Amino acid sequence: MTEAATTLSPAPRARVQAMKEYHPPLGCRDALRLDFNENTFACSPKVREALGRVSAGSLTRYPEREPIEAIIAAHLGVAAQQVALTNGVDEAIHVLFGAFLEAGDELLLPVPTYTMYEVYVSATDARAVTVQAADDLKFPYERLLAAITPRTKIIAIANPNSPSGSIATREQLLEIARRAPHAVLLVDEAYFHFHGETVMDLVGVVPNLMVARTFSKAYGLAGLRLGLLAGPVELMRWVRRVLSPYSVNSLALACLPAALDDATYLDWYVDEVIAARAEFESALDEAEVPRWFSRANFILVEIGPQHTEFVRLMKAAGVLVRDRSGDPGCDGRVRITIGTREQMAKAIVALNESMATLRAGKGAR
Ligand SMILES: Cc1ncc(COP(=O)(O)O)c(C=O)c1O
Repeated sequence: MTEAATTLSPAPRARVQAMKEYHPPLGCRDALRLDFNENTFACSPKVREALGRVSAGSLTRYPEREPIEAIIAAHLGVAAQQVALTNGVDEAIHVLFGAFLEAGDELLLPVPTYTMYEVYVSATDARAVTVQAADDLKFPYERLLAAITPRTKIIAIANPNSPSGSIATREQLLEIARRAPHAVLLVDEAYFHFHGETVMDLVGVVPNLMVARTFSKAYGLAGLRLGLLAGPVELMRWVRRVLSPYSVNSLALACLPAALDDATYLDWYVDEVIAARAEFESALDEAEVPRWFSRANFILVEIGPQHTEFVRLMKAAGVLVRDRSGDPGCDGRVRITIGTREQMAKAIVALNESMATLRAGKGAR
């Protein structure tokens, strides 16, 4: 390419130029994936059947999401106009930020938290204001309240939070919404099923509250990319203006009613994870690996300076876990997704072996 051609190459916004590309780690054959907080087992068999019923003809047509939005709204106990299905919660975050954040606005975030909030704010002209959790990684409630300014436009709180597992109580969330009436409070309930507490019932009651849910975790549909955003009609209509009408594909829409119908499967999986979480916590305690409290389908553990080697040893033992050392306040910490009890029994063997190797000083330095 000539120099002139290089100079003429269209430049993206400066904010985008400053961003790093995000390449999620890839899986490897036969490894147990405990690095993405997905359902580690399967979706409901009813979803598989629904997939099988999708006709080739139906794939020729653009998907119609409104009838399915009415079904999910009834399931959640909100009005159809209060909910929008999205291409995963990621799209909900992207679209919400795009609809509300202007130059000079602030996105308020307790950190560490879900990485994509900072990615999507970078696609706007607003800036992120972060509130660092203390070393116990508990939800920094008081400091978050103190960080609210007239410029705060969105406050995003994952509840439970990833990677820390920390929890904001309903009272705390209500108080935050009350103290920032000029801002949207987004409560991201991606891990709701493992925690069991929600503020979905306050949608439309608290005028600035929006709630996101995903089908990627407990429901086991991460590959279909399906999430939702719920909020008061007055806020949802702005979101709908910028939401693609076809971003949720026909396969996802065909599967959603079947997923909702199979409460037995969902309950089984959630109970299984909660039982496995307790067993894994005991194993961590026995192995003297410090851990953070979690009400989600993952646990953050303290490995220390040998975190990279720990992740490598776990991988060599067939278990993928996620090094969170790059997250603010998380140096030396690794996040481990909780799967079924059988899967976690394998993870416990890998954990014990890896820790023994590290403690014997046999790991690479
Ligand atoms: C807090 C939180 N929100 C949203 C997501 C992404 O959800 P989805 O797969 O629906 O885009 C994740 C995924 O890890 C998450 O941890």
